[in-house]
Amino acid sequence: MKRKAVGVPCLSAAAAAAVLCLSSLAGAAGVAGQKRLRFGENGEFKILQVADMHYGDGKATPCEDVLSSQMAGCSDLNTTAFVHRMIQAEKPDLVVFTGDNIFGFDATDAAKSLEYAFAPAVSSSIPWAAILGNHDQESTLSREGVMKHIVTLEHTLSQVNPTGIEIDGFGNYNLEVHGVEGSGFENKSVLNLYFLDSGDYSTVPSILGYDWIKPSQQVWFQHTSKKLRRAYTSKHRKAPAPGLVYFHIPLPEFASFDSSNFTGVKQEGISSASVNSGFFATMVEAGDVKAVFTGHDHLNDFCGELTGIELCYAGGFGYHAYGKAGWARRARVVLATLEKTDKATWGPVKSIKTWKRLDDRHLTAIDGQVLWSKRTKGTRRKKQIGGA
Ligand SMILES: *[C@@H]1O[C@H](CO)[C@@H](O)[C@H](O)[C@H]1NC(C)=O
Ligand SMILES: *[C@@H]1O[C@H](CO)[C@@H](O)[C@H](O)[C@H]1NC(C)=O
Ligand SMILES: *[C@@H]1O[C@H](CO)[C@@H](O)[C@H](O)[C@H]1NC(C)=O
Repeated sequence: MKRKAVGVPCLSAAAAAAVLCLSSLAGAAGVAGQKRLRFGENGEFKILQVADMHYGDGKATPCEDVLSSQMAGCSDLNTTAFVHRMIQAEKPDLVVFTGDNIFGFDATDAAKSLEYAFAPAVSSSIPWAAILGNHDQESTLSREGVMKHIVTLEHTLSQVNPTGIEIDGFGNYNLEVHGVEGSGFENKSVLNLYFLDSGDYSTVPSILGYDWIKPSQQVWFQHTSKKLRRAYTSKHRKAPAPGLVYFHIPLPEFASFDSSNFTGVKQEGISSASVNSGFFATMVEAGDVKAVFTGHDHLNDFCGELTGIELCYAGGFGYHAYGKAGWARRARVVLATLEKTDKATWGPVKSIKTWKRLDDRHLTAIDGQVLWSKRTKGTRRKKQIGGA
């Protein structure tokens, strides 16, 4: 049953379509950068973040923490339906799955559960990227095995790891989003996306709890950020292109806020590693990162700003994940908008906004906020004039 549902796009069509299926599979399995992400003609690029689907065996896997009146007939298929509805409503340019895509303990066959979980993204033909949480490896595949399977799926831009270097974890990669075709930025990455594996559990006997982003991963991030900055900046453009970072387990710095300085809710503690491996400082130093997006704590969905970086949760998405009965499952959307230039064409990124949508009848949008906006020369000049 499950396999059939996933295979339909390739199986149902005749020979001609089968060739298409094969060629796109080959493309997805190929090397980095096979498919270029770029801003649309409207100067926008939209990302849908899906956190913690916790997919199990599909219809046979029941929902958790829904009202007792909602239990009957509630399963992983409700998670699938929510992904479909979100894709239809938002028409994102990229879907990012930030780990605990499957809940391994309740997945009989990891490969099948992964295919089932990502099926709505695959069938939509929208590019998608995934990283690992702490539950993805609890079924029949190791973390390496899960990541290696993900990269074979259609329309994914996920990568196992950069080549030619030693790095901890599986699923460390970056994606470039280029400017509008035909504009001066058509060959430049104007928005940089970083994906990291935040691991599962500490393997150091004296340190209990969750894993952390290792020095090897931070060195890779530093090199990548530096390389992208060199390619982007010039004599007249000193600031780097904005960067967004996605991984599963929140950093200890997510505990820096309370309701007076975040947007959203905090209904449980911050389940970060019990040690601080310094990735937040590494990002602040690099200077390009404007926002970080994690999952892991399903009952937290806030964004708070610390020294110029917004730290954001998406809130729990999946129905076979712990949640809070009566508190809707949700997803986070990020919209980056380009600046209109004097020559009536598109320039660099002007602003990055976010909101969430609830899985209710109307997919209610909440907590809209600006995460970052470019300080333009115009604003500065105005301020100077005003102050003079
Ligand atoms: C789960 O999906 C079923 C079938 O579409 C629907 O009737 C039910 O209301 C959904 N449950 C929840 C909690 O959304
Ligand atoms: C981008 O690269 C293409 C192919 O090399 C080239 O034709 C085009 O002029 C370049 N555009 C800009 C704005 O540099
Ligand atoms: C948020 O406000 C609390 C006081 O209500 C303060 O302790 C904390 O440092 C603030 N956090 C940030 C990041 O400003």
